[in-house]
Amino acid sequence: MYVLGTESTAHTFGVGVVRDGEVLANERDVYKPVKGGIIPGEAARHHYELGPTILKRALEKAKVSLEDIDLFAFSQGPGLLPCLKVGSQITNYLSAKYNKPVIGVNHCIAHIEIARKVTELDDPVMLYVSGGNTQVITFENGKYVVFGETQDIGIGNLLDKVGRRLGIPFPAGPKIEELAKLGKKYIPMPYSIKGMDVSFSGLETFISKILDKYKIEDISFSLQETAFAMLMEASERAMAYCKKESLIIAGGVAANTRLNEMGGKMCEARGAKFRFMNKEYAGDNGAMIAYTGYLMKDYKQEDLTPRPNFRTDAVKVTYR
Ligand code: ATP
Ligand code: FE2
Repeated sequence: MYVLGTESTAHTFGVGVVRDGEVLANERDVYKPVKGGIIPGEAARHHYELGPTILKRALEKAKVSLEDIDLFAFSQGPGLLPCLKVGSQITNYLSAKYNKPVIGVNHCIAHIEIARKVTELDDPVMLYVSGGNTQVITFENGKYVVFGETQDIGIGNLLDKVGRRLGIPFPAGPKIEELAKLGKKYIPMPYSIKGMDVSFSGLETFISKILDKYKIEDISFSLQETAFAMLMEASERAMAYCKKESLIIAGGVAANTRLNEMGGKMCEARGAKFRFMNKEYAGDNGAMIAYTGYLMKDYKQEDLTPRPNFRTDAVKVTYR
């Protein structure tokens, strides 16, 4: 069975093809704002313009044609409405044209499913950290539940916002990571964890006020140490409470070496397993949508419209 999946929740337009759950192609292109943060309409235009090329590249890579596809999957949300519409429209058009079913996939769940496949950890806690999302997710009673999450901005967004103040172009995460390695002094910063949730906007405000008092390397170092420690505390609590013995970190920020190092240490101390997410699948990609579409192949879905606020726990997981 061939499934084609499209991803278009935010910056990335991606197309993946899987055959019986094995990835054959995973092509993408990422919209980069010229200045500042993401402009939804511009990102959507990027997806409309590049969509056909990415689709063609994925089909060529997988050595299949559209006639061969048995199921079309798309990322239904959460995400930015103008961007979500692109994937939804392309997919619904292809489904009608080739008379094949279509399925809407929850973007956060797709991150987890591809992570479970790639890491071979069956029942992990997942720390999902990207630009727009920061969630600690576990599987309980037939559903993925958000155990803890950010009460305001996503961790990637925090890094990008601080980066903008420091004159670092988007996406700032990799550059902040580089600078942090050169940092020597820890500047105490607001550490905000409320129950299971974290909050980052106080940290952003704090940093905006100390920019000219400290070295950029020390600010980057202290920012990473503080924000990542909050994420580790929330993840560890989820592992202890839900009695889970492994942790996966996924999403664009999972590319960060220091965050992975902290995850490894925390798990080692608990006697739990920890796995790195392979770069190919850590950020937004089409293969994770195609793969999750494959898992959901027997679902009968009524609502196939984009869902900007699609919750992780709104999906009843029957394939697991
Ligand atoms: P989503 O729709 O899931 O919110 P997204 O559009 O934010 O996704 P991702 O590719 O998942 O896309 O994540 C991008 C984020 O990852 C950016 O905020 C970027 O700064 C951050 N990032 C990338 N590399 C690193 C790194 N090495 N360290 C820290 N952050 C990083
Ligand atoms: Fe994502």
